[in-house]
Amino acid sequence: MVTMSKQLDAAWRSITARWRRAHGAAQDSVTTESTSAGADWRVLLAALPDAAVVLDPASRVLDANRPFLELYPDVQIGAPLSRWLRNPDLFQAIEAGTESGQPEVVTLLHRLPVERRIAARAIRLDGRDMSNMPGGAPFMLITFRDLTEQDKLAQMREDFIANASHELRTPLASLRGFIETLQGPARDDAAARERFLALMAGQAARMTRLIDDLLSLSRVEMRAHVMPRGRIDLNEVASHVVETLRPVADAAHAEITLALASGKAGVRGDHDELVQVLTNLMQNAFIYGGTGVNVRVEVTKLPAEHGRPERVRLSVSDNGPGIAKEHLPRLTERFYRPSVSASRSKGGTGLGLAIVKHIVARHRGELEIHSELGKGSTFAVVLDQI
Ligand SMILES: Nc1ncnc2c1ncn2[C@@H]1O[C@H](COP(=O)(O)OP(=O)(O)OP(=O)(O)O)[C@@H](O)[C@H]1O
Ligand SMILES: [Mg+2]
Repeated sequence: MVTMSKQLDAAWRSITARWRRAHGAAQDSVTTESTSAGADWRVLLAALPDAAVVLDPASRVLDANRPFLELYPDVQIGAPLSRWLRNPDLFQAIEAGTESGQPEVVTLLHRLPVERRIAARAIRLDGRDMSNMPGGAPFMLITFRDLTEQDKLAQMREDFIANASHELRTPLASLRGFIETLQGPARDDAAARERFLALMAGQAARMTRLIDDLLSLSRVEMRAHVMPRGRIDLNEVASHVVETLRPVADAAHAEITLALASGKAGVRGDHDELVQVLTNLMQNAFIYGGTGVNVRVEVTKLPAEHGRPERVRLSVSDNGPGIAKEHLPRLTERFYRPSVSASRSKGGTGLGLAIVKHIVARHRGELEIHSELGKGSTFAVVLDQI
């Protein structure tokens, strides 16, 4: 970063020097003009996208732009910057920059009101002698870039990769264990071989599911800004998914009730994605609802209200154990599971609801989650009717 900005600065200096040599006469007229209109630099300062402040040689604030004042609202023009920004590294950077004329970059850590990491870059303003300028001579420009958002994204990416590799490593380790056993101690044990092969198939299926889920997630994310164009009848989606999942429900000894809306329940959407939403929600109800769970799939039309158009609600309710309140806000995060071992033992990877959330967002819809311990859960998707 630092070297790149130094290189850029050097390049800029040599370009302006060459320009000055080539336009000697023109440059003189620029000088006279800007001295008379001494506020030129303020216009540039105001136009900078990053927070920026200009100091005079005594490190007093000559002017600051709006992003700077949003970052440091207490700073007052005309007073020394050190009154508000007491960071010794920053003032060392200002000193070093004053000496060398090179840009100096330091990282500032603010704890209040919220934790923030900010890169401050101090550069001496070389050039014409502006000491006669009305209101003081601009001497040092400091720009501030908030790195917090960028850090958060990097952390999310790191967590995501760590989680995904961890989820793959578990079945992989167990597959390697089975392979070693089959090559060694169980080499001639036909019964053990049968048993192990079935377990290995299960682990391989788990890895395939994880990779499929990761791919679905990245596909939906990639198309997040493109609103789906299809005309979909949610009654039809609900009937189709319920029929497809009947064998799964039977295996889980679950009861399904299906209640459709009257007429067509038309929404703008992507058929396969909406099928996936309902499949993920129903599978969760079967898996976490416990044996003999009742699962109700319902399509309802909501009347227009509060300036909103008519909408369609597709919900999946179960009378299972429910989810504790503290988990609800994080339920749709990737890999988040209230109980990792309980989910994993049922083949879960914690991506199902993250996929649902992304699909619903792409459809510009709303995802509602209601759940209470001992009473069951309802997950609903609400989309504008067409
Ligand atoms: N209907 C439900 N009843 C109780 N708990 C639920 C229900 N639906 C989801 N959960 C909880 O939410 C967690 C996250 O669900 P999600 O579908 O995102 O992941 P998963 O089911 O663990 O794995 P995957 O869907 O990727 O196979 C689950 O592990 C479970 O603890
Ligand atoms: Mg799930």
